[in-house]
Amino acid sequence: MPEIIRTVADIRALTKTWRLQCLKVGLVATMGALHKGHLSLINHATSECDKVIVSIFVNPKQFSAREDLETYPRNEEQDLTALETFGVSIAYAPPVKEIYGEDFATRIEVGHLTECMCGITRPGFFSGVATVVAKLLNQCEPDRAYFGEKDYQQLLVIRQLVKDLNIPSEIVGCPIIRDENGLALSSRNTYLNDQQRQVAAALFRTLQEAASNLVEGADCREVEKWAANTLKIAGFDDVEYVDIRDGLTLEKTNDINGSKKSARIFGAATLNSTRLIDNVPVEVNAKF
Ligand code: PAF
Repeated sequence: MPEIIRTVADIRALTKTWRLQCLKVGLVATMGALHKGHLSLINHATSECDKVIVSIFVNPKQFSAREDLETYPRNEEQDLTALETFGVSIAYAPPVKEIYGEDFATRIEVGHLTECMCGITRPGFFSGVATVVAKLLNQCEPDRAYFGEKDYQQLLVIRQLVKDLNIPSEIVGCPIIRDENGLALSSRNTYLNDQQRQVAAALFRTLQEAASNLVEGADCREVEKWAANTLKIAGFDDVEYVDIRDGLTLEKTNDINGSKKSARIFGAATLNSTRLIDNVPVEVNAKF
């Protein structure tokens, strides 16, 4: 079983000894409920770093009052067993009071990248993510930290945060891992039954088809409307957004040729109150 560290003082003491030995340290920050998407992040980290820390912390500050903080899947025993099979030796699993003391008062706001898509539909989410990620990076001081492209907007927000606050960690983005039907792996997929999983797979299929329509010259706004409607017909209860945006600035794109290199199509939709997000690059017909 991996060694479990619960306090800031202990993780600091450990990483200090590693740095004195000039070892390269990687961090994979998670909220637990580990799956193959996390495994892929861990594999990237172990291939590039001498030591890898996997943090497991369900961050209350990134859940709004109407979201699933109470029911979010938690199974530390299972996660530790998974980490053992993944060959990870250190799990950093602090309790909430270790991360947020009673007098905790700081919130980090990252600005324009958080003012669209999930930043609108999940008020407070990115501020909660930025605050906890800044803390985890300060506590673990990794050379590199690994985040998945499924949460693409989150990845850009974290890059901006690290740049703006001069945090000396490199942020590495890793490709989305999908199941056999194309559904992007996510801890929240455990809320879906088999039939809902079939419907959920339509998110990726629709975004892919939308991307190829765009490459063939279709109008961005028309494609967004078509994709949102297709998702409703496929069985999603609500489509929060389908947006075609520049993949670096997240500005709305009207002209795919203009930002051909980085345009992406983003989607968020709910199925029986399970919220799913996905994104695909526009210039490549993603395969899985
Ligand atoms: O992507 C997640 O699992 C979380 O948002 C993160 C980055 C671990 C912060 O709590």
